Amino acid sequence: MVRSKIAGIGMYVPKNVLTNNDMLKYMDTSDAWIQERTGIKERRFADRTGETTTTMGVEAAKIAIKRAGTTAQEIDFIVFATLSPDYYFPGCGVLVQREMKMKEIGALDVRNQCSGFVYALSVADQFIKSGMYKNILVIGSEKHSFGLDLSTRGRNISVIFGDGAGAVVLQPTEKENQGILSTHLHSDGSNAEILAMYNPGTHANHWKKEKLADYNDAEIADMFMSKTMVEKEQNYPFMDGPAVFKMAAVKFPEVIMEALNKNGLTTADIDLLVPHQANLRISQFLQHTMKLEEGKVYNNIQKYGNTTAASIPIALCEAWEEGKVKEGNLICLAAFGSGFTWASALIRM
Ligand code: UT7
Repeated sequence: MVRSKIAGIGMYVPKNVLTNNDMLKYMDTSDAWIQERTGIKERRFADRTGETTTTMGVEAAKIAIKRAGTTAQEIDFIVFATLSPDYYFPGCGVLVQREMKMKEIGALDVRNQCSGFVYALSVADQFIKSGMYKNILVIGSEKHSFGLDLSTRGRNISVIFGDGAGAVVLQPTEKENQGILSTHLHSDGSNAEILAMYNPGTHANHWKKEKLADYNDAEIADMFMSKTMVEKEQNYPFMDGPAVFKMAAVKFPEVIMEALNKNGLTTADIDLLVPHQANLRISQFLQHTMKLEEGKVYNNIQKYGNTTAASIPIALCEAWEEGKVKEGNLICLAAFGSGFTWASALIRM
């Protein structure tokens, strides 16, 4: 039976470190509040001019490709997960293809925010299992720093997010007990707007309090992405943090158990849970409710904040580099976020 294995993994984070105290330059907050509510001590912000979501993804990809013992020219498909693409369109996948001088292979962008990497991994897994591709590059990368409201008004969101990228190369394996055992993807759009960035977008939902009929065509076009949007402060992410937290606390354990049950395994079989790094409190809650032993949940949100689609591959890469992900280990990836979408993957390394 053919499965997909993680043949190589890499990560890249910008050099520019912002401690919680550095955030005080922009807003009314405190190191104590941020650490107590989120566990975050510092985050990385990309270089404003030189680094983009794509360039960071490329740096992570170069390492993953090298560790997989292959070359960029051997990659036969790209899946790129991000919510902060370089351009509204085209996606980052094609920019990676260009930047890494790859063959004219397929490139797909996944827009699933915090669960983007697990979704991307699942897509790649299906292509490997079907035999269609043999070397797939999966990237999760974010440049949040460019689109955050760094004033006090945006502090509940802006202190959380950071920039960075992670990547893996998936290849087929026929080894008896190796590879991605299963992936599980879910969504519920009924709360789509409580963790969202409305613009640029073609919707009119958030204008409903005003009378759309009163606007002419030029004004409506202007709302799509322009000074009206900036004036109305609708160009920043919005999050109802407590509501998201509550739902995350339900869906994380649910989707982890779904993966374990599917494979006839229990929480005791997990060698390392690598959850999306949304909030250290969520990870600690998971460890407690799922009765996972100390050291079995990997966290690095303290150093990087929430890097959305990049958080799982960055965490997995660091865990691997620290010797916490070894051949034969059972690794569980789990994510929850905007959409809502949530997902898990169970991998025998
Ligand atoms: O990755 C995608 C999924 N995302 C998540 O899973 C995030 C889930 N949510 C969370 O992690 C938490 O809700 C947050 C960390 C975002 C916020 O923590 P919270 O404990 O839920 O705080 P809150 O939003 O209920 O705000 C509590 C208070 C408010 O003040 P008042 O109204 O009680 O006076 C906020 O204005 O904390 C205030 N506050 C801050 N104070 C200092 C909000 N942000 C800050 C800040 N510094 N940065």
